[in-house]
Amino acid sequence: MRLSPSFFYKFVIIFFVGIIVILGANKLKAQDNTTLRQILPRTSTNSIHFNNNILNQKVDSVLALMRINEKIGQLVQYSGKWNMTGPSSSKGDQYKLEKLKKGEVGSMLNITSVTSIRETQRIVMENSRLKIPLIFAYDVIHGYKTIFPIPLGESASWDLKIIEQSAAVAAKESAASGLNWTFAPMIDVSRDARWGRVMEGAGEDTFLNSEIGVARIKGFQGKNLYDNSTIAACAKHFAGYGFGEAGRDYNTVNIGENELHNVILPPFKAAAKAGVATFMNSFNDIDGIPATGHKELQRNLLKGKWNWNGFIVSDWGSIGELEAHGYAVDKKNAAEIALNAGSDMDMESYAYEAFLETLLDEKKVSITQIDDAVKRVLRLKFELGLFDDPYKYCNEERERTEVYSEENLAIARDVAKKSIVLLKNENNILPLSKSIGSIAVIGPLADDKNSPLGNWRAKAEYNSAISLLEGVKASVDKNTKIYFEKGIELTIPTVEPGQNQFLYPLKFNTTNRSGIKKAVEAAKKADVVLLAIGEDAYQTGEGRSQTDIGFKGLQMELLEAVKAVNPNIVIVLMNGRPMDLSRPSQMVPSILECWHLGSQSGYAIADVLFGDYNPSGKLPVSFPHNVGQEPLYYNQKNTGRPYNVKHVTFSGYRDAPKTALYPFGFGLSYTTFEYSDLNSSQTEIKANGSLTVSVNVTNTGEHDGEEVVQLYIRDVVGSLTRPVKELKGFQKIKLSAGETKTVTFSIDSETLQFYTVNKIWEVEPGTFNVWIGGSSEAQMMTSFSVVE
Ligand code: BGC
Repeated sequence: MRLSPSFFYKFVIIFFVGIIVILGANKLKAQDNTTLRQILPRTSTNSIHFNNNILNQKVDSVLALMRINEKIGQLVQYSGKWNMTGPSSSKGDQYKLEKLKKGEVGSMLNITSVTSIRETQRIVMENSRLKIPLIFAYDVIHGYKTIFPIPLGESASWDLKIIEQSAAVAAKESAASGLNWTFAPMIDVSRDARWGRVMEGAGEDTFLNSEIGVARIKGFQGKNLYDNSTIAACAKHFAGYGFGEAGRDYNTVNIGENELHNVILPPFKAAAKAGVATFMNSFNDIDGIPATGHKELQRNLLKGKWNWNGFIVSDWGSIGELEAHGYAVDKKNAAEIALNAGSDMDMESYAYEAFLETLLDEKKVSITQIDDAVKRVLRLKFELGLFDDPYKYCNEERERTEVYSEENLAIARDVAKKSIVLLKNENNILPLSKSIGSIAVIGPLADDKNSPLGNWRAKAEYNSAISLLEGVKASVDKNTKIYFEKGIELTIPTVEPGQNQFLYPLKFNTTNRSGIKKAVEAAKKADVVLLAIGEDAYQTGEGRSQTDIGFKGLQMELLEAVKAVNPNIVIVLMNGRPMDLSRPSQMVPSILECWHLGSQSGYAIADVLFGDYNPSGKLPVSFPHNVGQEPLYYNQKNTGRPYNVKHVTFSGYRDAPKTALYPFGFGLSYTTFEYSDLNSSQTEIKANGSLTVSVNVTNTGEHDGEEVVQLYIRDVVGSLTRPVKELKGFQKIKLSAGETKTVTFSIDSETLQFYTVNKIWEVEPGTFNVWIGGSSEAQMMTSFSVVE
């Protein structure tokens, strides 16, 4: 049937008039102060999460009501002035307030507490035309007020269950305080100990970062974002931030496609697959393109190929920084580049709000792109339930009872003790007996109640951690004598006590030795010395790169002085990065790696020192012989000259080994484990086939213990050179003294594939070596082949 032209035109006119009437009616409703949730179709809470159609319908119905300034507003994020985590913002409070009233802000960060959040939300709900609730974000990196070990430390537990649990507690405390969104987990593979932010991730390995990243996302987001105790997570920093040249923060990243796809991106892909609600892009440029303006990564790969439907927030001011990179001529151009590249929300650059509308008029950005970004933001607001009740996370009673509870502190202690790594234990000096005659607790960190909280400590109270000294006192028998001497100060204060050190540099004490004498006297009297040295909390974290990863200030002098009178020293190391332990490791019989362990630090350390808990942590990063080896990681390439022969022309150093002092995956226990009978179920498989490998692990010592059994593979010949070993699986098992268990791993195409010369993920035929053992230096090996 053919329609007459006049009928067709009438139909078109009626159709558009109808749409205009509907939109107009909706606008009127909104102007009449009818809240959006009244005009939207209601659904039962859970179905929001699972029913995409209804969710999209809701998002579209809000979008249809929005004017361009309101749309752009959803893409704007401001910081509350009280808590800066970047260079100061250019705009004052009054400016932000006016914007909030006009509904031209989508999210706030750094506003904490139910009272402040409710007050800020109220400004939007009572003044703006459409009353679209704000999302409140905060850097909840390793706990909210109950502080857990820094992420690097927690990763040393290799225990995905407790890592998930720790994120769940952090989410619960945050949500009880009114927050909806954390900027965590950081899943940047970090191989350079000089980089200060190595403390914030899961270390040097791609697989470990993927597994731990997903566990953290599950913990934060739970099964349902609508739940009152879960918050949205954020996979950051997309991408390459951990590879800044020379370990310098924010620095250029020069890597090729092979490293990008095989090393850096897999944790992000895993996060997207696990349904992480948001991504954050990064400050660095990669091979000439700043990540914030990287269309290939954000729009084409993440949102395109990976089909991920969350939104990307810029890093602090990173849209504006496109100008400083020399990638945009001005801020307007930066806004254009960032939006086109797929950055959805502008954190503290003030670029989108200033220029997107003009850019739209000039057709330099499209309404489709803006709408897409807005929809992504609205979608999360629906998923969180903020449209149903913008104040649903604002409950003082919950804030009072659920934050920093006894129950949460007990979990923090459990996680902390499981994060400790025993690096050295000559003559089984540890565990100590609780009825030992005397202990000298010495060192600048020995009674420090602040450093164990680490950097990125959210709402931790100043000086609220249990110190080592407190932990020891609580553990030993009443007859044990404890001599405490600080010996030296590590730092000279540069801020008032209690003031946030986050943005300010530290100054180290290099002159005041006045306490060393007393420390020596204490050491002389004691059966054993616990020497607490390492790093101040603010030696690592953002902007805290160092060229020297040794012991700052007078710490080595203190060690030498103490050692001269008492060699029975256990170094209780507190730090946020791999340190140069080459000299100390030769000087003392025992080193216990205790990171910055959080609120319950001292109790957790005492649990291990006195044998209530048998240490089970393994290093998530290699500890070098010296800083010159950095970046140091176990999964290097073989090179064409790997051999350690007697002349000089091989790939190594003339003044240090090329391997680690303490390798990735390494950690001792009070018991010993032996591996035997490594077996592979097949010697040949097809590319889409699978096999299992198994090994027997026996506890050959006298204590019950836990072991992290690790699976490594090597793809011997590839279309691109492949690492000498790659972690592909791990299982943490418990073994009673004398017990043997068989541990089995499955290997399939997921395990064996890589991003090949064909620029796709595929399994290439050839020989694969397999190792199973207790560290990346596992020796027991078998092989199999993948055949065409
Ligand atoms: C950091 C981010 C952080 C943001 C907000 C930036 O400086 O790089 O990781 O989430 O500030 O505080």
